[in-house]
Amino acid sequence: MQVPDVVIAVDGYSSTGKSTFAKMVAKAFSFLYLDSGAMYRGVTLYALENGMIDAEGKIDEAALKAVINTLDLHFVHDEEGTKLYLSDRCIEGEIRTLGVSSHVSPVSAIPFVRNYVDDRLHSFSEGGRVIMDGRDIGTTVFPNAEIKVFMTADTDVRARRRYDEMVAKGENPDFEEVKKNLLERDYIDSHRETSPLTQAADAYVMDNTDMTLHEELVWITGLIQGRFGIYS
Ligand code: DC
Repeated sequence: MQVPDVVIAVDGYSSTGKSTFAKMVAKAFSFLYLDSGAMYRGVTLYALENGMIDAEGKIDEAALKAVINTLDLHFVHDEEGTKLYLSDRCIEGEIRTLGVSSHVSPVSAIPFVRNYVDDRLHSFSEGGRVIMDGRDIGTTVFPNAEIKVFMTADTDVRARRRYDEMVAKGENPDFEEVKKNLLERDYIDSHRETSPLTQAADAYVMDNTDMTLHEELVWITGLIQGRFGIYS
C-alpha cells in the first residue's frame, strides 16, 4: 500500500498525556514519533551541566548561543521506544527530572533555542508518517499538518499523572511542588513572545480528564480513517 506522508501535530498543556497518546498512535498506525519537548529538555540539561544557568535560574544566553548549533541532539528509535541522545550519550532519564523541568520553560522561550529545535525537527521528519507532540507544532513547526490535536485535562489530574510518573522512576516528589511547576510552565509556555502555546483554529480538542487510553485511540482512529482511509 502507498504510505501517504501524513503529519499529525499534538499540542497542549504540560502533562496532558501528549507523549503517551502520540506513542500509542505511532505504534498503531506505523508513524515515526518525535517528542519536541525532549529537545527543549536536552538543551536545558546541556545548559545546566555546563554552568549556563545560575542558582537563581538566570540563563547565560550568550554562552548558550555560541554553542547551540554544535549540539548533536538526536533521537534513537528501537524496540523499547524513542530515546534522546546528546552525541553518543543517552539522556532520556536525566531530561525528565524536576531539576530540568523547573528550568525548561524559560530556556524554551529563547528565540534562537526555538530556531535550533525547529530546524532539527524538520530534518528528522522529511517524508513519511510523522506524529510529533509539543506546544507549537500545529501553529508554528507544522502549520500545514493534516491532523492537529489539542489536548487538555483537569489540573489536579495532570499533576497526579506527573507525580505518579516520577514516583515510578524512583524519585520522591512533593505533590504541591509538582503541581506548582506544572502551573508555572503552563503560564510561561502560553505567555511567551515567540510561538506561545495556543490552540490552532483547525485543531480537534481532546479533554482526556476522564478518558482511558483505549477511548483516546478510538477517538483518533475515527479521525485518521475518516480523512485518509489508513487502517493500520
Ligand atoms: O512536553 P514537555 O513537558 O516535555 O515539554 C518541556 C517544555 O518544553 C515545556 O515546558 C515547554 C517547552 N516546549 C515548547 O516550548 N514547545 C514545544 N513544541 C514543546 C515543548
